[in-house]
Amino acid sequence: MWHLILLLSCLGAVEAKISPHQRQKVVQAYNPRRNTSSDSTPLQVGNGNFAFGADITGLQTFKPYATLSTWGWHNFSLPTTPNQTSVDDFTGLQWWTHDRLVTYDQPNPAQNDISQWLIQNPQRVKLGNIGFAFPRDGDEKDKNVTEADLEKKTQTLDIWSGVLKSSFAYKGVPVSVNTAVDPDSDTVLVEVDSKLLQSGGLGLFFDFPYSDRNKFDAPFVGVWNATDKHTTVLQHQTSHSAVIQHSLGQTTYYLTLQWEGGEATITGPAKGTHRYFLRMNNSKTTTRRLRLKATFLPEPLDATSTATVTTTPSFTKLLARTQNWWNTYWIAGAFVDLSRVINSKSSPSSLQANATELQSRILLSLYLLAVNSASSLPPQESGLVNNGWYGKFHLEMVLWNTLHFARWNHFPLFWRSLPTTYTLFLPSSLARAREQGYKGARWGKMTDPTGRSAPGEINSLLIWQQPHPMFFAETEWRSFPNATTLKKWEEVLEQTAEFMVYYAWFNQSTGYYDLGPPMYPVSENTNPNATINPTFELAYWRFGLDVACKWKQRQNKTVPEEWTRVRDNLAPLPVVDGTYAVYEGIPGMWRDNKTTNDHPAMAGIYGLLPAPASGQPPLDMDVLRRTAEYIKRYWALEESYGWDFSMLAMNALRLGDEEQAIEYLLHPIFQFDDAGYPVGGSRVPTPYFPNSASLLLAVAMMAGGWDGSEGKHFPKGWEEVEVDGFVPAM
Ligand SMILES: *[C@@H]1O[C@H](CO)[C@@H](O)[C@H](O)[C@H]1NC(C)=O
Ligand SMILES: *[C@@H]1O[C@H](CO)[C@@H](O)[C@H](O)[C@H]1NC(C)=O
Ligand SMILES: *[C@@H]1O[C@H](CO)[C@@H](O)[C@H](O)[C@H]1NC(C)=O
Ligand SMILES: *[C@@H]1O[C@H](CO)[C@@H](O)[C@H](O)[C@H]1NC(C)=O
Ligand SMILES: *[C@@H]1O[C@H](CO)[C@@H](O)[C@H](O)[C@H]1NC(C)=O
Ligand SMILES: *[C@@H]1O[C@H](CO)[C@@H](O)[C@H](O)[C@H]1NC(C)=O
Ligand SMILES: *[C@@H]1O[C@H](CO)[C@@H](O)[C@H](O)[C@H]1NC(C)=O
Ligand SMILES: *[C@@H]1O[C@H](CO)[C@@H](O)[C@H](O)[C@H]1NC(C)=O
Ligand SMILES: *[C@@H]1O[C@H](CO)[C@@H](O)[C@H](O)[C@H]1NC(C)=O
Ligand SMILES: *[C@@H]1O[C@H](CO)[C@@H](O)[C@H](O)[C@H]1NC(C)=O
Ligand SMILES: *[C@@H]1O[C@H](CO)[C@@H](O)[C@H](O)[C@H]1NC(C)=O
Ligand SMILES: *[C@@H]1O[C@H](CO)[C@@H](O)[C@H](O)[C@H]1NC(C)=O
Repeated sequence: MWHLILLLSCLGAVEAKISPHQRQKVVQAYNPRRNTSSDSTPLQVGNGNFAFGADITGLQTFKPYATLSTWGWHNFSLPTTPNQTSVDDFTGLQWWTHDRLVTYDQPNPAQNDISQWLIQNPQRVKLGNIGFAFPRDGDEKDKNVTEADLEKKTQTLDIWSGVLKSSFAYKGVPVSVNTAVDPDSDTVLVEVDSKLLQSGGLGLFFDFPYSDRNKFDAPFVGVWNATDKHTTVLQHQTSHSAVIQHSLGQTTYYLTLQWEGGEATITGPAKGTHRYFLRMNNSKTTTRRLRLKATFLPEPLDATSTATVTTTPSFTKLLARTQNWWNTYWIAGAFVDLSRVINSKSSPSSLQANATELQSRILLSLYLLAVNSASSLPPQESGLVNNGWYGKFHLEMVLWNTLHFARWNHFPLFWRSLPTTYTLFLPSSLARAREQGYKGARWGKMTDPTGRSAPGEINSLLIWQQPHPMFFAETEWRSFPNATTLKKWEEVLEQTAEFMVYYAWFNQSTGYYDLGPPMYPVSENTNPNATINPTFELAYWRFGLDVACKWKQRQNKTVPEEWTRVRDNLAPLPVVDGTYAVYEGIPGMWRDNKTTNDHPAMAGIYGLLPAPASGQPPLDMDVLRRTAEYIKRYWALEESYGWDFSMLAMNALRLGDEEQAIEYLLHPIFQFDDAGYPVGGSRVPTPYFPNSASLLLAVAMMAGGWDGSEGKHFPKGWEEVEVDGFVPAM
């Protein structure tokens, strides 16, 4: 008996391996299914750098969901206002910063046109739409078929294989469609099976929009009624291929079409549009199956040569490698299986429902983040679904958007943008710091592929993005403690630390190094000229500098004396009413509800960041607990963003309250839709992917624990959860 118990408890300490077969069973049980198009989210197929959002037809027939990429960007023409005709004319604004004037990239009222241009440009380009063209009535005009005219609509997104399977009937004739995206090229794979193809009736359309000027372009991206502002040309066609060129201003890209299943003809564009049609020729060789490879390219593929067309892998090969990529993704990563909790007879139904919801959020987030956020440049908050902030990405959000890839053992996806994002933006960030009179590299905020940070008061004064490279580097080191890791982050950490050291300001009267003013803390709602020593940023500076010092030591290099001096003499974390405050001396903390709003970053010093390293001042556990309690009681959580809930959940976990952690992860404000898209809430459009990403960070911590408290941390009743492949958090 005792032996058995001993044996079982030993086994309990070892992570169970979850077999590929079991993973497949669990994953496919959560495949999204629809029978009508959603008005707010597509079902997507994609490869991290390119994604295609489909409606109920498996294409973009009725709902113009997006086709977006990492590479597709466009500029509107520059202003013609005198002295504002070039980006070099932009001067920004000077603000007093510890007795000197520092120039910040902020909109200058005297230069409104170029300031606004720099905010709005470049925008991410919606590459095009592909949809069904229904049978025509003898003339060139399409019949006005609507979604309501289709019967027997059903759709399943098989997240296990990355294939979207849709079917419907038109006038009683069935149509089935498979849609996928190649992992290695920006190719949409479309397989249509229907007798309607043979009659030359059912065809496809390809359409191209112009760019939009809206900060948020959701749920649909692009402008269709500005056809004179851009051009398309059918460059080339054979009976099995075609190339369409699309030009908007300086941006030109190509859609290369290659198909199997019979000869077909491309016509168009219809007058006043950029819409082209593909229809099968009526001939004996026409089959009832069309297999199309639609490749979007910044440079033309040489499809004019038959040789290229025939050497491109066949449709079948591309579909097989897509399915293989996704199968491998699910098998190689870390995994959480809640089936036993869900199916246990002893689980109350509300626990079963909670576990089912969490399992669904986990799996759909794993799928959606690989489709939308596994890019070679940081992803935007809405991924490749629609455009937010003009399609630009935020460097303070890369921690949420990218760290989970490492925590779920998807390092190949983590490495797509890290550390390359930082090495790419190092020159512009060194220049930013230099122009402001600092050493090192100051990382920007709302960014485009050139590394420019869009003008903005918050954009220019936010600092919590600065230590992110240390967090990434240290996370990578924990899994790959070798010389390659040390080398690849060396320069980035050096320059990041240099800025941090020289930004911290020595306060003669206290003998401490202060952060700010002026600055914005994580909660972007304080007076920047009064914001000094915010809790989260101080803790993060100490952590970041500590990692930078360790990096030097690991390389047997001398740690610069200034680095340790600043690290060890940063101002103490500010305490108000026995809690960690937003910033030192903040008026009305917990009394004025303006301060108990936006991100409760104080919870991040224990939720997101590890406990201080030995030798560093420890956190006060009583103060931490009281802070968590006050946030729960007084914070305006109804106005919070989703990652706040995950951060609070991680804080609750470290404080030993697993029930509270689950409660935050299933909080009524923290919503995900039927296909797993994170609902934006009161502040931002849907989807807001940092929610999904942060959820995965919190679950990784529940599954793998953290240093000093390794292993599972699920609440009572969830003991039968199985986890596989996690390493403890820092
Ligand atoms: C469509 O899906 C919804 C939600 O899953 C379901 O309630 C409804 O019965 C389905 N309708 C049809 C016609 O299948
Ligand atoms: C947009 O203009 C900026 C400033 O001239 C330039 O750096 C960038 O490369 C341009 N981007 C595109 C997509 O044209
Ligand atoms: C443009 O700059 C020139 C030279 O600095 C200056 O003389 C002129 O007044 C400026 N024009 C406007 C409209 O600001
Ligand atoms: C902060 O101070 C600068 C001057 O250094 C001033 O221009 C700016 O308006 C102030 N901002 C706020 C929000 O008070
Ligand atoms: C097609 O149908 C939609 C929805 O009923 C309608 O708004 C639109 O005007 C119609 N278009 C044409 C060209 O008839
Ligand atoms: C284009 O369509 C949008 C709405 O979709 C409308 O607001 C705008 O006025 C239209 N522009 C033109 C030039 O027709
Ligand atoms: C296919 O049909 C188009 C138009 O109907 C025609 O111009 C073309 O010659 C046909 N191609 C073949 C190979 O029959
Ligand atoms: C399920 O989750 C809800 C919402 O967080 C919570 O109120 C409820 O107590 C949970 N039920 C169980 C059994 O954990
Ligand atoms: C060293 O770490 C890198 C990641 O930085 C990894 O790709 C490589 O496989 C590791 N090398 C060895 C020998 O473990
Ligand atoms: C020095 O620190 C004290 C206490 O934090 C603060 O009130 C004061 O503003 C700081 N001095 C300057 C010049 O920032
Ligand atoms: C640092 O020195 C130690 C001890 O001499 C050695 O084992 C290690 O390989 C060195 N590391 C590097 C990166 O040179
Ligand atoms: C914030 O305080 C104001 C004034 O005391 C009050 O009217 C308002 O309802 C409060 N808002 C919230 C969300 O508590």
